[in-house]
Amino acid sequence: MKGICKSFSGVPVLKDACFSISGGEVHALMGENGAGKSTLMKVLTGVHKRDAGEILIDGSPVNFLRPKEAEAAGISFIYQELNTMNDLSVEENMFMGREILKPPFGFGITDKKAMAAKAKETMAQLGVAIDPNTPMRFLSVGQQQMVEIAKSLLADCKALIMDEPTAALSPAETRTLFKVIERLKANGVSIIYISHRMEEIFEICDRITVMRDGQYIDTKKISETSMADVVRMMIGRDIDVRFPGRSAKAGAALLEVKGLSKKGFFEDISFSLCAGEVLGVAGLMGAGRTEIMHALFGSAPADSGSIFINGRQVSIRTPEDGIKNGIAFITEDRKLEGLILDYAIDANIALNNLDRISNHGVINTAKEKVLVTEAIRRLLVKCSSAKQKTGELSGGNQQKVVLAKWICGNPRILILDEPTRGVDVGAKKEIYMIINQLAEQGIGSIFISSELPEVLGMSDRIMAIHEGRIGGFIAGKEATQENVMTLCTGAAND
Ligand SMILES: Nc1ncnc2c1ncn2[C@@H]1O[C@H](COP(=O)(O)OP(=O)(O)OP(=O)(O)O)[C@@H](O)[C@H]1O
Ligand SMILES: [Mg+2]
Repeated sequence: MKGICKSFSGVPVLKDACFSISGGEVHALMGENGAGKSTLMKVLTGVHKRDAGEILIDGSPVNFLRPKEAEAAGISFIYQELNTMNDLSVEENMFMGREILKPPFGFGITDKKAMAAKAKETMAQLGVAIDPNTPMRFLSVGQQQMVEIAKSLLADCKALIMDEPTAALSPAETRTLFKVIERLKANGVSIIYISHRMEEIFEICDRITVMRDGQYIDTKKISETSMADVVRMMIGRDIDVRFPGRSAKAGAALLEVKGLSKKGFFEDISFSLCAGEVLGVAGLMGAGRTEIMHALFGSAPADSGSIFINGRQVSIRTPEDGIKNGIAFITEDRKLEGLILDYAIDANIALNNLDRISNHGVINTAKEKVLVTEAIRRLLVKCSSAKQKTGELSGGNQQKVVLAKWICGNPRILILDEPTRGVDVGAKKEIYMIINQLAEQGIGSIFISSELPEVLGMSDRIMAIHEGRIGGFIAGKEATQENVMTLCTGAAND
């Protein structure tokens, strides 16, 4: 790709960007949130029409007008937000739009047997055990991704674009994905790997291209660069990637949870959270962490147990109860639960803070503007204006809007479920500093993350969840990856 330019409603997003990849190479594409990585790839596959520039495959110019054409030429795209049909089976998803037909072909009768056989064969080729008849909605995100990869193999792909493929995967699923990537690579498939996780890039990629503000910065061999080097290319200066220190001392107990249980999800959960404390929650995927948080917030109440806030027992049966009691919940699924993607940034933020910006039920637009402007400034949301639709923002910037809309409400208790998913290094650090600032103001935070180093770096105390029960607590100072994992896997009980 050479000299690629692309503007959206007059705002340039790609400015003379370029990119190249060789056969059988795993090539990382990195850059801050909003740098233009996803857009560049969408230009490549014909999702977006470029304003200028050239795309060559094996030396010949191409111009794909839609993703189907790119796919026919061997380029497949696994999007940042997966697009699967949850009510159809794995097999139906795989063959959608590329059904195998029975002769005489003109009748359009599908050959179910042939498709079943091909689906099985493709799964085997990837080395994953997924029954093609399973309805899509029963699969984990990692498994759904495997189906997407299988789909691209059916299309006989030569280059596969993976846009933040591990953002929603468990460590075990990530390992499976890496094995699949190795296999594809050995078969000569080129992979464009977009991720904010530096460790992964240094583990599986051969080369890296960095973009900044819609422009090409540089391409390097992984063996000839370093993480510090990559950060410098991405943001144009050095940043300290260590976790920021916090001076807040934990105060009085803010939240107390006693014997919270929900059949099939979690049992006998008891813990406390103090003012100004950051309580990390570690656990394997499916351990019940998110369900416990939904129970605290009221979006999926528990069957039994009690919740005390400032020593007073409270009844939290709906999210409204949760909000009234000063709880803010930043959910892990921003697309489904966190944002209204068709609404502008200001509307999304306002929606959570109507009390604060209205008089007698009428929104005061001046107050709204102040609140929204301050929120955007505080979280460094990259957008053309507060009126931009959240659906148009880059993934990481959407996450910042979710944070912004909750923090404006001055919560006392902040539940953060995977708050840094898909967020770039600089913005991650911003989020850590905001958590620290809030702690200094006496807010208690519950911090859930699948990235263990982050839990260790940020928490005063860590609560490990193992199969819906508390595996144990460890003080932040004494926590190591090993002792936390031991509690999370229940190995301590053996
Ligand atoms: N359809 C669209 N309409 C208007 N602006 C858009 C559209 N798609 C992307 N943009 C803008 O283009 C810029 C680049 O976005 P892009 O999604 O390519 O970033 P990214 O590098 O993939 O970031 P992230 O790491 O957060 O996913 C952003 O500022 C975004 O708001
Ligand atoms: Mg992106």
